[in-house]
Amino acid sequence: MKILVTGGAGFIGSNFIYYMLEKHPGYKVVCLDALTYAGNLETLEDAMKNPDFKFVKGDITDREAVRNLFKEEKFDIVVNFAAESHVDRSIEEPEVFLKTNILGTQVLMDASREYEVKRYHQVSTDEVYGDLPLDRPDLFFTEETPIHTSSPYSASKASADLLVMAYHRTYGFPATISRCSNNYGPYHFPEKLIPLMIANALADKSLPVYGEGLNIRDWLYVKDHCSAIDLIIHNGRVGEVYNIGGHNEKANIDVVKTILKELGKPESLITYVTDRKGHDMRYAIDPTKIHNELGWLPETKFDDGIKMTIKWYLDNKPWWENIISGEYKDYYKKMYDNR
Ligand code: NAD
Ligand code: TYD
Repeated sequence: MKILVTGGAGFIGSNFIYYMLEKHPGYKVVCLDALTYAGNLETLEDAMKNPDFKFVKGDITDREAVRNLFKEEKFDIVVNFAAESHVDRSIEEPEVFLKTNILGTQVLMDASREYEVKRYHQVSTDEVYGDLPLDRPDLFFTEETPIHTSSPYSASKASADLLVMAYHRTYGFPATISRCSNNYGPYHFPEKLIPLMIANALADKSLPVYGEGLNIRDWLYVKDHCSAIDLIIHNGRVGEVYNIGGHNEKANIDVVKTILKELGKPESLITYVTDRKGHDMRYAIDPTKIHNELGWLPETKFDDGIKMTIKWYLDNKPWWENIISGEYKDYYKKMYDNR
């Protein structure tokens, strides 16, 4: 079995590569990644020592390069993680989100059709469903919830999903889609909520909470996302969407306070800043379908996962200190100074 993992030098893709190499010895895993600001080869250092793993630098929107790779490697399965993934960046500069997330998906699907890939899996997000109101805790996203996007990021992911479903219906393309809630865990890029708050707290810098911090996200430990995708690519039905989430809903302010408590830092570090434009209030996944059809259940509770994650950031300081000392500084200044 030979699997192409696109975007494998990023957060979830790299965790998926390690998960697959351990779970399925003998599978060949090829990672295609453009190494944008979010991609980091250091993350894959250990994988590089495995003879079943190969890294290829390349852009999923580069049709010629993608075709050549598919021709040479003859993949059985393609799992597409490659994307621009940060909502705040999509609000500032939407264009690259449309290019990578939509056109990149099309290029990968065309090559998959031409070289007869047996299964194409699109890694999508619960953000395609828009948001739920805070005063209706009884509501959850199911696979039937209408697409209703808020940000250029979620609109680009939803567009890609529609294209995947259209390829399935029109060409009988053997595709599946998963829509997962917010992930956390090792190798999470420090621009996202949890690693940003850990890094700032450790440096005794202020923790910028958007609005009143009441927005709710449904947090899933990244390894549980990987196990769900592994099940879908092997046993999921083509043409189907699977929601992934573990009923771990938390208000942002509570996540931030938990991090401060774990690190023994004072709550006075919290600073409320101007809210994100179009900020989604609540995400909440109903994972009944993947549980009933594929027997998937998450293994890591938030209370354990957040401790494991904080420990990982404490044990792997060079990995993230290297990132935040580079061009990230300019990004931080632009997004947070005088906010
Ligand atoms: P990430 O930003 O950490 O990593 C993205 C990776 O894709 C990087 O390694 C980057 O170099 C690569 N990449 C970007 N543009 C590329 C291009 N044109 N060609 C090749 N490679 C390119 O993102 P992530 O958080 O790991 O998310 C991975 C996928 O999972 C995305 O599709 C995202 O929409 C989806 N997702 C993320 C979450 C989450 O909580 N992070 C939740 C649900 C779904
Ligand atoms: P983020 O990690 O960017 O994920 P997403 O927007 O895809 O859910 O943000 C998670 C939540 O945390 C979201 O409600 C925005 C909020 N947030 C802050 O309050 N401050 C921050 O500095 C960041 C990055 C996010």
